[in-house]
Amino acid sequence: MTANVSGRDAVEDYINRGLLGLWAPVCKSVQVKEGAPYGIRIAGENLVLWRDADGAVKCVEDFCPHRGAKLSLGEVQNGNVACRYHGVTVDGDGTIVRVPAMPECALEGRRPLKSFKAVDCAGAVFVYLPSADQPEAPEFEPPEEFVSDEWEVFPCMTRWDCSYRASLDNAADPMHASYLHADSFTLAYGSKQDTMRLERTDKGFTIERVNQRGVNFDWTELVVDPGMIYFRLDIPYPDGAGPGGPFRIIGFAVAIDEETHHSFFWRCRQVQGVAAESWRFLYRAFLEDRHWHVLEQDRVMLESIPSDARRREMLYQHDIGVSRLRQMIVRKAKDHLKAQEAALDQKTA
Ligand code: FES
Ligand SMILES: [Fe+2]
Repeated sequence: MTANVSGRDAVEDYINRGLLGLWAPVCKSVQVKEGAPYGIRIAGENLVLWRDADGAVKCVEDFCPHRGAKLSLGEVQNGNVACRYHGVTVDGDGTIVRVPAMPECALEGRRPLKSFKAVDCAGAVFVYLPSADQPEAPEFEPPEEFVSDEWEVFPCMTRWDCSYRASLDNAADPMHASYLHADSFTLAYGSKQDTMRLERTDKGFTIERVNQRGVNFDWTELVVDPGMIYFRLDIPYPDGAGPGGPFRIIGFAVAIDEETHHSFFWRCRQVQGVAAESWRFLYRAFLEDRHWHVLEQDRVMLESIPSDARRREMLYQHDIGVSRLRQMIVRKAKDHLKAQEAALDQKTA
């Protein structure tokens, strides 16, 4: 018998480190340059990314199998990553392909490192973080806007000093916009009172204001897929912002560790061709600073919440989205931990 690892604290600790079993954006595509490895930390684990000769992204643990130096300090050679310390070279499967200082070294051909599936999509690199119940990467199914010709999308990435869970909770709480962002350009409108309605969808749920639509940030769709968690919301654009309807945000919150995370926001607009060009220009010239100002308001507020605030929270009707999302995440985490426990039992049987 193994200890019960599915108890409440174990589940919370597991979630806090960073939920696994998901494709997660880990950096912008441009950060992984030809010829140079790039180190990142995701869900408490150090990873190194690089591009092979075809430009495809490879990802393994950022740990040299020789004596543990970071591979991200090394260089890319023939599509593999070579450690700067003594030159040990590893391929994208985590196999040692070369020990240059020692001819016919027995380490060659061994595979000591975990490798991770990685893909470029919509300007970011996504990595699959395996869970015990889903060790193999499921099909990569990004939000439809990312692969549609009708949408113009581009990512921005921020690092915030709080749990990724705070960002997800924030997205499941549209009502905060009318207060926290009340001084902002597009989020100053509408009523400051409402009730919230939650509706289940195939892949999660929507949370929306009952009496207001298309005025402010009035709804969020949370997608809690088998392979991805993200949110989608629209911010109405003022008159004069050109064709393409509202400004859409698709967001991911990805744990670096318990205390820090990356928030990724894709700015999306349904425009093509020249309209897409002019929207990009308009965005960069006039709107980007305002958007960053709003994100800063979120950052400051979320970073002010103590990590153990949940013990004293007093939720009310508007928090039905937050509660639902938390339940869904806990359910996933329990499944992962059960699979982990079963694997351990099998090993020790
Ligand atoms: S530590 Fe990497 S080659 Fe020695
Ligand atoms: Fe916000």
